[in-house]
Amino acid sequence: MKNVVIAGTQWGDEGKGKVVDILAPHFDIVARYQGGHNAGHTVRIGDRKFILRLIPSGILHNECCCVIGNGVVVEPRAFNTELQELREMGIECEGRLFVSSRAHLILPYHLALDRAREERLGTNSVGTTMRGIGPAYEDKAARIGIRAGDLLYPDLLREKIRTNIEAKNRELVSMHCEPLDCDSTLDDFLSEAMRLKPFIRDTATMINRATGDGKSVLIEGAQGTMLDVDHGTYPFVTSSNATAGGAAIGLGLAPKKITGALGITKAYTTRVGGGPFPTELLDEQGAYLQKRGNEYGAVTGRPRRTGWFDAVVVRYAVMLNGFDALALTKLDVLDEFDEIRISTAYHCRGELLTDIPYGANVLAECEPVYETLPGWKTATNGTTNFADLPAAAKAYVRRVEELCGAPAALISTGPDRSETIIREDSPVSGWMK
Ligand code: GDP
Ligand code: IMO
Ligand code: MG
Repeated sequence: MKNVVIAGTQWGDEGKGKVVDILAPHFDIVARYQGGHNAGHTVRIGDRKFILRLIPSGILHNECCCVIGNGVVVEPRAFNTELQELREMGIECEGRLFVSSRAHLILPYHLALDRAREERLGTNSVGTTMRGIGPAYEDKAARIGIRAGDLLYPDLLREKIRTNIEAKNRELVSMHCEPLDCDSTLDDFLSEAMRLKPFIRDTATMINRATGDGKSVLIEGAQGTMLDVDHGTYPFVTSSNATAGGAAIGLGLAPKKITGALGITKAYTTRVGGGPFPTELLDEQGAYLQKRGNEYGAVTGRPRRTGWFDAVVVRYAVMLNGFDALALTKLDVLDEFDEIRISTAYHCRGELLTDIPYGANVLAECEPVYETLPGWKTATNGTTNFADLPAAAKAYVRRVEELCGAPAALISTGPDRSETIIREDSPVSGWMK
């Protein structure tokens, strides 16, 4: 049995898309278990660039079957647009892409509410992607959500949506926002949503039958551990469980069937949106990382905040996700630094902390305790052998492994598929057999 979860160890955008694309040919199914089109997973293949938001990154491999699990929230227009974009790039999804009947749908009122809530929070806003993700998950928990499977029962569905629009309009008006027009909202939504029907399946049964027949599943996480609604920097988080545990629930695959986990880790740190970020660099070094790392959101185009590697964060992620290994990405972005810093602990309110404290307000007060390592001042981009890395780069990787408690089984040295080191005799080389 081989069912492996790929999850982010930081605040998202660690390079999950690239790593999924590399591993996908060695798996039968690639499945997303949480999040929605707030994700932006970039895959570079030669001079072609694909940004996958909702559809698993495995779709770029023609023989791969892809699943959008019950834990994902699906915005029909975003789904149709992505399908069309892929078609224009020569990728056909029909017959090998399936959406769980239990996946919740994002409706126009979720977008309106996301916007209204963020505006109301003002300077305390989460800085969401404004895709309606949070409000859609709220309705799921409140048991008033609309699920993909509801599209198969249109009469009942219309009634449910009408009731919801009326209730949401009351909420919008109370926040001094324009209410939605019931009839046109319903008609527009249904014309997009009905196009999902051919993709809808009982994907949990599908995946379990497949694994029973000896097929393997690569489970693609979105966002990252520090954006997990339970374990992240609450309330500056997304509204789903991005950590590996979410995979079991978000696909209906029993925990004991998940055989491995890989933590995608950027060689420094970035964050989009609000919330605490202890190692953030607000100086020219931060600006340099942003420029050299091309740190602009794939979904919203927003510049990403940047900072040094935070071993406290990644160690916490290794613990929570039980990562067998890390995939250390964007090592090449550090090529030109004279010195590189790693945060190993925090000073906070007179104490030395080696674990993430409770509370975003407390984390915001934490001052990183840095260890300084020499830079390598040598181009590493495109390196495919660990042995070929400069000695200082090897030392950096080894220190990250030591501090985080997991081996860097994959090291990424550029955006392209080919710019990758796979360590021999590692969990990753094992999964690629
Ligand atoms: P994801 O959301 O975790 O899939 O990550 P994103 O795709 O949002 O952001 C990662 C960005 O870094 C993308 O633009 C990738 O093409 C790029 N990237 C991935 N790995 C590397 C690497 O090793 N070096 C460089 N320079 N860029 C990389
Ligand atoms: P990938 O999968 C980075 C952030 C938003 C915001 C917070 C909540 O590409 O790594 P939401 O719209 O989810 O309610 O926003 O989460 N966020 C991400 N940051 N990468 C992502 O996805 C993200 N998805 C959401 O910026 O701070
Ligand atoms: Mg991203």
